[in-house]
Amino acid sequence: MRDQQGQISVAGAAGAASQAMSTVVEARLSRRGVLAGGAAVLLAGRLPAAAQASLPALPFKEVLAGLDETDHVPEGFERQVLIRWGDPVLPGAPAFDPKMQTGASQAQQWGHNNDYLCFVPAPGANPPSSRGFLCANHEYCNSELMFVGLNAKDMAEVRRKITREMMEVEMASVGGSIVEIERKGGQWQVVAGSPHARRLTVDTPFALTGPAAGHARMKTGEDPEGRTARGMLACCAGGMTPWGTWLAGEENIQQFFTGKLPDTHPEVENHKRYGSNGRFQWGKFVNRYDVAKEPNELNRAGWVVEVDPYDPKSTPRKHTALGRFKHESACPIISKDGRVVVYSGDDERYEFIYRFISKGRFDPNNRAANLDLLTEGTLSVARFDKDGSLTWIPLVQGSGELTADKGFASQADVLIDARLAARRAGATPMDRAEDIEISPTTGKIYVALTYNDRRKPSEVDAANPRAESRFGHIIEMIAPDGEHTADKFRWEILVLCGNPRDAKVGATFHPATTENGWFGMPDNLVMDSRGRLWVATDGNEPKKTERGDGIWVVETEGPARGRSTHFYRVPAGAECTGPFFTPDEETLFVSIQHPGEDGPSYPPFARFSSADDPATRWPDFKPDLPPRPSVVAITRKGGGKIGQ
Ligand code: FEO
Ligand code: CA
Ligand code: CA
Ligand code: CA
Repeated sequence: MRDQQGQISVAGAAGAASQAMSTVVEARLSRRGVLAGGAAVLLAGRLPAAAQASLPALPFKEVLAGLDETDHVPEGFERQVLIRWGDPVLPGAPAFDPKMQTGASQAQQWGHNNDYLCFVPAPGANPPSSRGFLCANHEYCNSELMFVGLNAKDMAEVRRKITREMMEVEMASVGGSIVEIERKGGQWQVVAGSPHARRLTVDTPFALTGPAAGHARMKTGEDPEGRTARGMLACCAGGMTPWGTWLAGEENIQQFFTGKLPDTHPEVENHKRYGSNGRFQWGKFVNRYDVAKEPNELNRAGWVVEVDPYDPKSTPRKHTALGRFKHESACPIISKDGRVVVYSGDDERYEFIYRFISKGRFDPNNRAANLDLLTEGTLSVARFDKDGSLTWIPLVQGSGELTADKGFASQADVLIDARLAARRAGATPMDRAEDIEISPTTGKIYVALTYNDRRKPSEVDAANPRAESRFGHIIEMIAPDGEHTADKFRWEILVLCGNPRDAKVGATFHPATTENGWFGMPDNLVMDSRGRLWVATDGNEPKKTERGDGIWVVETEGPARGRSTHFYRVPAGAECTGPFFTPDEETLFVSIQHPGEDGPSYPPFARFSSADDPATRWPDFKPDLPPRPSVVAITRKGGGKIGQ
């Protein structure tokens, strides 16, 4: 029943794109097509049967694009809700009661707005995919969907009405969680009482490492040494290291800070760039979140965080060597010479893509030493040129314009003000870099650029080829011979997103992509062992794209390169985040973030959504329970790899 509600049904292959195979080649070269001034637009129609037959079969029967109150998997698959906001994490955690939440109860329970996920196999798990530690970011929370009695129509009023008690729940609901999970009889379950279970909240101490640790600009009233910051803030996407730690990128840190500095303050330029917008009013109650009272606290957020799930007593760290910006993700790989490379994008309009290379080398026999690899190294930023080359520019104090007279007196200054340094170094301003993933089959690096509807025609460049880009694109960075430490790469565009039927959009999906198969606003990514890119989206809605968010699977190589297939869709108001496979690829974990947010964009509801009157009550659908951000586990009925 519910499956049919409010569904914007888009007929299967009826409107499939039509183009001869020669145009497929053109689509592949779309970057040059765009440069020549004639976007390689695919027109709606049918792919000739012979061309269709020559392509590899779809890995599953795709779901219909659309939006309703629940989530949908393809025929032959099932999904289980594994853990929800408020479910117990720590031993002895109280049961969820939305009317009685306190900071103390929330700090023992699964947080709100789960985002990035990784699954780290537990020691001795046999097979490794049967038991492990599920690590999750809790990026932020939706107060209006958590507490009854708030008027979601007026967020300013919501902010005024937040009490100290509510704020304590908010503060405990963001950060991260680790639960031990195991699969028994085909069903996943949380291992109750696991000594590895952990909650990280805004009060958890994090050790600062690297060149900015201990610097004067990192010192605050709470931490006169400048070496211990509290909490992980706004952690969006992330990554898992080859030594089994969880990386999280601190992204939209500005929302947790209030206040403004006087125009004469030395941190003014920095604060303009990194912001403080008062979405959360914690600064009313806690000094460190008011930048007027603690100007340096903002410098202690915006880093890559590393947590060791194997050691629940370990102090999590923030690595300043990887730079301070609005990190969407942190994608690590071991280079041929053993150094660790971490790619990370900054998700804001006209910001950049970065690469960190460790000084030390990975040692498969020395995990303790590997745990320090991210504390020292070189940060670079990407410049994309129209000849298809990509140059990595090192951000090193004293080089180019990164000198004391320009405000960079030390490497700590370069890293704290990485955005300012990258701009001075001549990096290419991108259309909001979100997640980054590396193909296990080709070593190519994929970056989701979600969209930038403010890019003016005069600002279009080869790597960001559309003015007022509303639907985003996916770019490929190609290391020469797979050497991730090289100074120069090449780049290509995998796909320009949006509706391929609308010539004005200029989308370049493979013509075999069906009406259900196209999408906009790519965000979080994961790759399967065949090198297919699984794209989770953020921002599709009926008015913009005739569909809600979900997961689409994009072929990256061969004759079907650029063909996209719809795998999963999320409920009204939700963003799809955190896709992560178990090592055997038989389970795909997905984070459903902010279900019920933004009621007006869901036509059957069409009003502001609140805990009292939400656009959906997913996943419980009980009248006394608000919508709950949750993690689902998707499996194939009867077993087998998800993307066979
Ligand atoms: Fe938290 Fe860039 O999405
Ligand atoms: Ca994201
Ligand atoms: Ca990812
Ligand atoms: Ca996004």
